[in-house]
Amino acid sequence: MTNQLQLWSPVCDQLGIRYPIFGFAHCVQTVAAITNAGGFGVYGATRRFPQEIHDELAEIRELVGDRPFGVDLVLPPGMPEHNSREAIEAEIPDEHKQFVKKLIDQYQVPEASGPGMRTRFIRSAEIEAAQIEAVLKSDVNMFACGIGSPPEVINAARGQGKVTLALIGSPHHMQRTLAAGVDLIVAQGYDAGAHTGPIGTYSLVPQLVDAAGDVPVLAAGGVATGRHIAAALAMGAQGVWMGTAWLLTTEHQEHLHPVNAAKLIAAGSGDTVITRSESGKTFRQVRTGWSQAWEADDAPAPLKMPYQDVLVGDLLGAIEEHNIEPLIHSGAGQSVGYFNEIRSVADVMDQLVEETCKTLEAQSRFLKST
Ligand SMILES: Cc1cc2nc3c(=O)[nH]c(=O)nc-3n(C[C@H](O)[C@H](O)[C@H](O)COP(=O)(O)O)c2cc1C
Repeated sequence: MTNQLQLWSPVCDQLGIRYPIFGFAHCVQTVAAITNAGGFGVYGATRRFPQEIHDELAEIRELVGDRPFGVDLVLPPGMPEHNSREAIEAEIPDEHKQFVKKLIDQYQVPEASGPGMRTRFIRSAEIEAAQIEAVLKSDVNMFACGIGSPPEVINAARGQGKVTLALIGSPHHMQRTLAAGVDLIVAQGYDAGAHTGPIGTYSLVPQLVDAAGDVPVLAAGGVATGRHIAAALAMGAQGVWMGTAWLLTTEHQEHLHPVNAAKLIAAGSGDTVITRSESGKTFRQVRTGWSQAWEADDAPAPLKMPYQDVLVGDLLGAIEEHNIEPLIHSGAGQSVGYFNEIRSVADVMDQLVEETCKTLEAQSRFLKST
């Protein structure tokens, strides 16, 4: 009887959640809604000041009560020691500055009223340490590392009773990540939105499941339907981690420029590209005038993180502030082709769960008696 069965995997018991569906979002309301719908919401806080992290995690706690949720920081190795914009600006080549100026002139982008999301502060060891401290002092249940998983940070988070998790996109990173002592691994494939590696989700997940031993793996990148979730479980994952799916939810709209909502609704799976022009690292986003400008023959190669952040951060802010339609863009994965309307998080979750159960039940049809 279909409605008697519930979607479940061991991570549900490990974390005290109803469904093994993890949702990443940069929006407090969306994260809380994912947790309240029976999944596990994770707040992307890497561009937030420590005080904001403190306040926003408290806000999510208020919204979810005792239910668990997480926070994600991106901790790439090799960032500058201090939060110094001038020092970075001094090293940016003239060719790059000229190219950005040309874009500004071509699209007549007025100046932004303040720094953009990527230039509010400069990624540095100094600010990362303060962000980590804010996370450790909070009562958030999980600490997730989007890029990098420094063992001392993982240790400290575990010492505070937090579940720890790292996203990885290659078998090469597995040993280091396991040695850091994480409790969970997200195997994030090439299809994924935002920072992503070169290995497709299908090729990646079973390899990482095998390499992870007893550490549970969640599948990410291209998960959009219950059929994908059933496939992820069949590949040995204990759940899924989704990002693109939540961008077009009702809860997320306060966070998304309306032009981006329209572009995401219109986009199919073939309408995303990987570009380093956003942050200096490979980043999947919807193809727009922005990605095309950086792919043009006259464009310089994007700089490394955090130089590219500083080069384009203010302009990215100005593009949204002044509604420069052709250049407005959002990170999104290939799964964007499945999301064509704005719906509540609870609706998305219910449909995912129902379809996963139906798909799992139907799989026995591929076995016949001999
Ligand atoms: C707009 C956007 C921003 C993202 N930013 C981050 C981030 O800051 N940190 C992180 O660990 N993952 C980030 N991700 C990746 C997600 O955590 C997740 O791995 C990915 O979205 C899964 O693939 P999917 O987009 O196909 O669902 C982002 C994803 C999107 C769509």
